[in-house]
Amino acid sequence: MSEHLTVVSHPLVLHKLSLMREKSTSTAVFRQLLREISQLLAYEVTRDLDMTIKRIETPIQEMDAPVLAGKKLALISILRAGNGLLDGVHDLIPSARVGFVGLYRDEKTLQPVQYYFKVPTELDQRLVIAVDPMLATGNSAVAAIDLLKRAGATNIRFLCLLAAPEGVARMKEAHPDVPIVTAAVDEKLNELGYIVPGLGDAGDRMFGTK
Ligand code: URA
Repeated sequence: MSEHLTVVSHPLVLHKLSLMREKSTSTAVFRQLLREISQLLAYEVTRDLDMTIKRIETPIQEMDAPVLAGKKLALISILRAGNGLLDGVHDLIPSARVGFVGLYRDEKTLQPVQYYFKVPTELDQRLVIAVDPMLATGNSAVAAIDLLKRAGATNIRFLCLLAAPEGVARMKEAHPDVPIVTAAVDEKLNELGYIVPGLGDAGDRMFGTK
């Protein structure tokens, strides 16, 4: 991927995102929409995966068929909201290895605090796709990518649903080598670190907490 930021402005993505933004949308529908959008975003973030040719036999004859090349890719969910994106992407790429980075946002400092880290082996040989629905201040994303790089990852992409310009800028400064794929870039962050107009707290909305 050559672009630092890719906004997937496909009509289906935008329509589903608008439904997710509405505060009257139920938890169940929110989760379902996130699953659907995550697959459309996954399609984009994997668009240029390396391919190889494998000799296969169809019921009619043999052929040289294109298949994915290289080591299984790694999907890394930034907990807890990342799991909402992870499920759909994992359905689409079922052979992917999966890891988790547990970071919570200190509500006062807005700084990420790590509480869990478990990732697949041989990260240096895999395409690593880190997923988190909301790229807000960028603090969690930058911290998660720091940890992934420390664990050996060299080829990382960041997949989110919504981004704030502040988060995109922070990522570009800290990790210019990590392309971002998102459905939309909103206007700004508010004083609490929420994306405006946004959709509220993605974790609360997908898990029904408050
Ligand atoms: N995290 C969220 O869930 N929502 C925001 O608007 C910002 C960060």
